[in-house]
Amino acid sequence: MEILIATVAAYLIGSVSFAVIVSAAMGLADPRSYGSKNPGATNVLRSGNKKAAILTLIGDAFKGWLAVWLVAQYGPRFGLDDTAIALAAIAVFLGHLYPVFFKFKGGKGVATAAGVLLAIHPVLGLATALTWLIIAFFFRYSSLAALCAAVFAPLFDIFLFGENRVAWAVFAMSALLIWRHRANISKLIAGQESRIGEKKRDAG
Ligand code: G3P
Repeated sequence: MEILIATVAAYLIGSVSFAVIVSAAMGLADPRSYGSKNPGATNVLRSGNKKAAILTLIGDAFKGWLAVWLVAQYGPRFGLDDTAIALAAIAVFLGHLYPVFFKFKGGKGVATAAGVLLAIHPVLGLATALTWLIIAFFFRYSSLAALCAAVFAPLFDIFLFGENRVAWAVFAMSALLIWRHRANISKLIAGQESRIGEKKRDAG
């Protein structure tokens, strides 16, 4: 029962879309109406409002971190172990992708995954975030950076911790994240992907 409550709570936390909430609170257009139409920090940046994009990034990462941290911190008191942590990781991530509060139309999960990985282990989160930063710095594509980070995250996990009971969650998050970026992958291949900071237009 406890594991079910923790998983559902994580899903609900993930369902809070900071892109939509921050944009509304700051009087900006709904990010689902412009650019790639994705409710995420990269698309909010296309509004031209950096503060809103940063707040979205922090909020979406924080909820991923919080859901996993809560289970890791307080779970043992209720007999919850690594399986519950892995389920919370997937649940908060799925909440972001398919939010119950927003007609199940959510984002692509990059910031939330970063928060989840940081909560699983700071080194795992930082190594993955560094991968994102390096690719973003050299290529200026947020999606490409996210795809590369998604490929490396499970490798970092296995390299750092060997066989572990949350590895399947890290693999599953990466697979889902890559799948959610399929429109971006097509655009990257076609040379039509918009670069970081490019303003509103149909980014697909
Ligand atoms: O965080 C999502 C990013 O990787 C791609 O976003 O808006 O360019 O599809 P977007």
